[in-house]
Amino acid sequence: MKGKHTKKLIAALMGVTMGTSYVPAMAPATVSAESAGVEGTVIYSTDFEDGDVSMFANRGGDDTTVISASDEASVSGDKALLASGRTQDWNGPAFQLDNGVLKPYTEYSISFKMKGRYYTGGMVSMQYTDLDGKEHYSNLVQNISSSDWVSIDDLRVSFHDMQTKVKIYVEGGQDDIFIDDFKVVELKTPEIEKDLVSISDAFAKDFKVGTAITVGDLSSKPFMALLEKHFNRTITVGNEMKPDSVLDKEASQAYFEETGDDTTPQISFSTAKPILNYCQKNDIPVRIHTLVWHSQTPSWFFKEGFADDGEWVDKEKMLQRMENYIKAYFETLTELYPDVDFYACDVVNEAWTDSGTPREAGEPGNGNYEKSLWVEVFGDNSFIEPAFTFAREYAPKSCKLYYNDYNEYMDGKLNAIITMAKSLKEKGIIDGIGMQSHLDARQSLDAAFPSVGMYNNALDKYAELGLDIQITELDVTTPENAPTDANFDVQAKYYKGIFDAIYAHKDSISAVIWWGITDDKSWRANKYPLLFDAEYKAKESYYSIMEGVEAPPVEPDPQPEADYGDANEDGTVNLSDAILVLQAIGNPDAYGENGTDKSHITKQGAINGDVVNVGDGLTNSDALAIQEYLLKLVSELPKK
Ligand code: XIL
Repeated sequence: MKGKHTKKLIAALMGVTMGTSYVPAMAPATVSAESAGVEGTVIYSTDFEDGDVSMFANRGGDDTTVISASDEASVSGDKALLASGRTQDWNGPAFQLDNGVLKPYTEYSISFKMKGRYYTGGMVSMQYTDLDGKEHYSNLVQNISSSDWVSIDDLRVSFHDMQTKVKIYVEGGQDDIFIDDFKVVELKTPEIEKDLVSISDAFAKDFKVGTAITVGDLSSKPFMALLEKHFNRTITVGNEMKPDSVLDKEASQAYFEETGDDTTPQISFSTAKPILNYCQKNDIPVRIHTLVWHSQTPSWFFKEGFADDGEWVDKEKMLQRMENYIKAYFETLTELYPDVDFYACDVVNEAWTDSGTPREAGEPGNGNYEKSLWVEVFGDNSFIEPAFTFAREYAPKSCKLYYNDYNEYMDGKLNAIITMAKSLKEKGIIDGIGMQSHLDARQSLDAAFPSVGMYNNALDKYAELGLDIQITELDVTTPENAPTDANFDVQAKYYKGIFDAIYAHKDSISAVIWWGITDDKSWRANKYPLLFDAEYKAKESYYSIMEGVEAPPVEPDPQPEADYGDANEDGTVNLSDAILVLQAIGNPDAYGENGTDKSHITKQGAINGDVVNVGDGLTNSDALAIQEYLLKLVSELPKK
C-alpha cells in the first residue's frame, strides 16, 4: 500500500453531516480514558474534579441550559460537568473552539464521555457564525443511544479565521447531560512534499490547472498548501455557489410579502464568501458553478409565492424569475468582488440524459435523481436557450459561458450536447463545453469506463465544434473501499491515458480542474479518486501524469525594493518604525504579517524593517539599528 489510506473523520464545519462513529460504553469501567492512536499535544484536558466548568457555556441566545460541576455522576474521580435546565431539544452544553486557546487552521482531536441523566441520546454537533452573522450547523455524531456513558472519541475539528463562535455541543431531548474527561489534542500539522513539480506550473503554458474546494477545506493548512502548490490557477466553489446555497428563501418570501412581486428571487453569497475572499486575496480566477441545474436547487424556487406548498408556476413567470435570478447573481458577485476574475460560468448543468433526451418532469431526489423541475415547468429543455441569453446579457464580458455535463462521452448525450451547442453557438450565446470527467478506472484498464478511446472521441467531437473545452470536475474512481496497490496502479495508468488525450487536445482546452485534491475529502472518498492521499502524499497517479514532464524553469521572485527603516510605510523613518518591528517580533499574532491588529506590519513593511543582515527577517537588532539611525549613530540603512 502507498501510504496509509485511513479515512479521517474531519468535521468540515460546513453543513456537512459527518459519518463518524461513537463507542457506546456499556459500563464506565470499559471506557478508556485515552483515545486510541491520536498523536499530538494535549492542550486542554479536564475531569472536572476541580469544579472548574468555565470553559463551557450554553449555546447562547434563548438556551436555558445551566452548566455546573456535579458529583451525581462521573467516569473518573467523583465529578462531572452537569448541563441541567434544558427546555428545548437544541439546548445544551457547548465548548467554544475560537476561545483564544485553540488556533485557526489547526487540526484538533476532541474526545469526551457523555451520559444522560435517564438515558443517553441525542447528537454531538458543531456550529459557527459566518462573515454575514449567519449561523451554520452540522452534526458530527448522530443517533447516540445508550443507557450508560458513551465515549465520543477522536472528533477531528478545525476552523478558519473567517468563522466566529465556533462551538462543539451536545443536543437532543431535554434530559440533563453529564460530560466527563473532556480532552482536546492539537495534532501535528503534516508537511506536504515540497520537492514535487507543481502540476499547475508544469502545464501553465497549455491550460489553467485548478481544483474545486468547499468552505471546510480552507481550515486545513496542508490541504491549502497543496492547493497553492499544484492547483492555484483556477478555483471552482464545490457547493456554495449552487442555487440551493445562493437562493435565499426567507428573503424571497419577505420580498414577495412586501411588494407582491414573486418574480424576483433574493440571493446571498454568504456561504461562499470565505472561498471568494480567499480567491480575491490570492488573485485566483474563479469558475462559477452553477446557475441552472435540476439538482441542489430548492423546489420553492419553482412555486407560486416562493411557498413550499405553492403550485408550480407557469413558464412565463419562471422565465422572469430566471432572468432576475441570473441578473442578481452576476450583479451581486461583481459588486462584492470587483477584483476577482470570474472567467467562466456553467450556465446550465446536466440537462440531458445519457440517451440524449430531456430529463423527466418532476421533483428530483428520493430515488428520482433524474427528474427536473425545469422540465416540470417548461415541459422540455426549452429553458436552456433563455438561460444562456440572460447569462450573456448579465455576465461580465470576460466571463465565458459553458454547458457542463457528466457522462459527456456517451453517444446519446454527446450528440444532444453537440446539436444544442451548435444552435447556441450560432446565436453567439455559448463559449464552451464543460466536460465534468467523473471517470471510473475500475479493476483493470480493460474494464475502465469510459475507455480512453471513448473519452478521446468525445474530446475530438467537442473540439470540432470550435468552442472552448474545459475539463471541469476530473476524478477517477477505483473500486469501493479497496485502496490496494493493484487498484492504484490501474488508476495511475488510466489517468495517464486520459491525461495524454487531454494534452493532445490542449489547443482546444483552456482549463483542467480536479474535483478535489486529497482522497479523504473527495465527494467519492471511498473510491479514492484523486492525486493525493489522506496524508497529503502524491499517489502513483500524480507521478504517472507528470511522467516525462519537465519542471518549468523557476523564475526567481523579483526582489522587492526596500525603503529601509520605514517599517510602517508612512514615508518617513521614525521611532514608530522601531516600535512596530518590536511589536511584530513580540506579538506576531497581532502585529506580524498576518496579524489581527489593523496596524500590523505588511510584507513590504517587514522587508523595509529588515535593516541588519538583510534577508534574515525581523530581529531585535533591526529595531535597535533603526533607533541608532535616528540618533545618527549609524549613517545609513541597511546597517553595514
Ligand atoms: C457534488 C458535490 O461535490 C457534493 O459535495 C454534493 O453533495 C453533490 O454535488 N456534478 C456536478 C457537481 O456538477 O456539482 C457535483 O458536486 C458532482 C457532479
